[in-house]
Amino acid sequence: MPLPDPIDASILIQLRQAAIDAAQHAYAPYSNFRVGAALLLEDGSIVSGCNVENASYGLTICAERSAMVQAIARFGPRVRVRAVVVTNLNQTASSPCGACRQFLAEFAAADVPVYFPDANGEVMQPISALLPFGFSSASL
Ligand code: THU
Repeated sequence: MPLPDPIDASILIQLRQAAIDAAQHAYAPYSNFRVGAALLLEDGSIVSGCNVENASYGLTICAERSAMVQAIARFGPRVRVRAVVVTNLNQTASSPCGACRQFLAEFAAADVPVYFPDANGEVMQPISALLPFGFSSASL
């Protein structure tokens, strides 16, 4: 699969800032791990989300899914994502969990770049590399 189109550097800066801003809103009293995610949509809009935990731990919503749900709520079900940036306020490596990879792939415009914190700062991987053999409705 061809690599995703590179994201304009100034847009990437905006996405990173939106992700950091969203992470400040995280509700993470159980893990104290505050995550923010920002999505670049096809029309150029930026939508963000944060993780929201619950006393019943399994109900926790990750920042990536929170952002995706926010995008659908604001722009409707035809929304498509062009890029994803994930960050956390804990200065530690964290790649999107499996559930979020599947969730994001559903709304990816193509093979979108996903930027996330690694040991050296930030790394980018295409969603196709993060979620090989993901489930799709074509399988139904
Ligand atoms: N979390 C995210 O929001 N996104 C990720 O990519 C990984 C994990 C959240 C879930 C939970 O609130 C906390 O981080 C610790 O797992």
